[in-house]
Amino acid sequence: MQGYLKCLSCNSEFPLQQDLITCPKCGGLLEIIVHPPKDFSFKNLRGKGVWRYRELIAGEYKKIITLNEGNTPLIRSNHNENAYFKFEGANPTGSFKDRGMTVAISSAVTLNYKVVVAASTGNTAASAAAYASRAGLKSYIVLPKGKVALGKLAQSILYGTTILEVDGSFDVAMSSVMRLYKELKIVYPLNSFNPWRLEGQKTIAFEIAEEIGVPDNIIVPVGNAGNIYAIWKGFKELQGIGVIDKIPRMIGVQAEGAAPIAKAIEKGSDTPEFVNNPETVATAIRIGKPVNWQKAMKAIKDSKGTAISVSDNEILNAQRQLARNEGVGTEPASAAAYAGYLKLLSENKLDKNEKTVMILTGHALKDPDAMVKAEAKRILVNPEYIDKIILSDL
Ligand code: F0G
Repeated sequence: MQGYLKCLSCNSEFPLQQDLITCPKCGGLLEIIVHPPKDFSFKNLRGKGVWRYRELIAGEYKKIITLNEGNTPLIRSNHNENAYFKFEGANPTGSFKDRGMTVAISSAVTLNYKVVVAASTGNTAASAAAYASRAGLKSYIVLPKGKVALGKLAQSILYGTTILEVDGSFDVAMSSVMRLYKELKIVYPLNSFNPWRLEGQKTIAFEIAEEIGVPDNIIVPVGNAGNIYAIWKGFKELQGIGVIDKIPRMIGVQAEGAAPIAKAIEKGSDTPEFVNNPETVATAIRIGKPVNWQKAMKAIKDSKGTAISVSDNEILNAQRQLARNEGVGTEPASAAAYAGYLKLLSENKLDKNEKTVMILTGHALKDPDAMVKAEAKRILVNPEYIDKIILSDL
């Protein structure tokens, strides 16, 4: 596919070279600008999942490392026919990260890297570990000690990656990986500052557009701020070749204790107010210095979207409502999207008749501790009395 790379900081342009990850001139974030084939049509596609959209994914791949990620359910709400949940928990390792990981790991293999590395709040770690195993690569993951949900840590152990724990938040882990990549050159970074990973994540937009057309709003939980940009990019590219005629408003949701982007938007500022000690129950998005903030701001502004913050209580309530009213189990960070939706509805900033898709980024099983904190109907019984209990409860 035709295209080029452009630095978001110094505006330098480079040919579409797969080994470029950050700007070789200033170290800034690179955007992959592509010109997809003008004759593209969903009707001609074959296969399912991320690689169904191979024609629209930048890069050449000598071997594709895949676990058949993508093709996740788009579930219509029981309570509002205009609200949909894109259930990314149905990916092979239980989060949307798999969409980016199949592309990033395939790229690492194509470029002959033998070692991969990622900083993570947990989901990137689980996904990186799984895809590295599949590719036969050595992997290292850098985690904020004590702040990773049990399911994600357990997955990382099972897939056999080397876990490096740092005292400090994800932001500390992230900057160590950035330094490692820039100084050591022999490790391939799997974090979302790597723009090739986002090429996989943009397929969320393709799947939604193919299934229901263009919604009015997309609501995404925001942490390191790569995904909101990736989804916007997907819609934007479809619009560029005339497959769709408009793009949805991109609405980011952050947790109150980790809301650098939402706070900036609320104040009408273009630059985030970084948070030194981010805190939230939604550990996946416990991030104070989002690496991709420039990209997120671009997506939000261009789409006339917004970013808001929600409290931990609102997140946990939304998580339980999703599970108990809709039958959809997500981890707290993902429930932040639903909490944001409920908040925007209650403040009359969004109409229930607008077609809205919430991106439920990770599975409930990722964070068992969050689940068992919900008020439970749990009774110790003598087996002989079970019938009496049920009859008295009806
Ligand atoms: N939801 C979940 C479940 C996540 O794991 C993440 C990010 C996000 C939302 C936010 O996406 O960073 O693109 O804005 N998790 C990363 C990780 C940081 O390490 O797993 P983003």
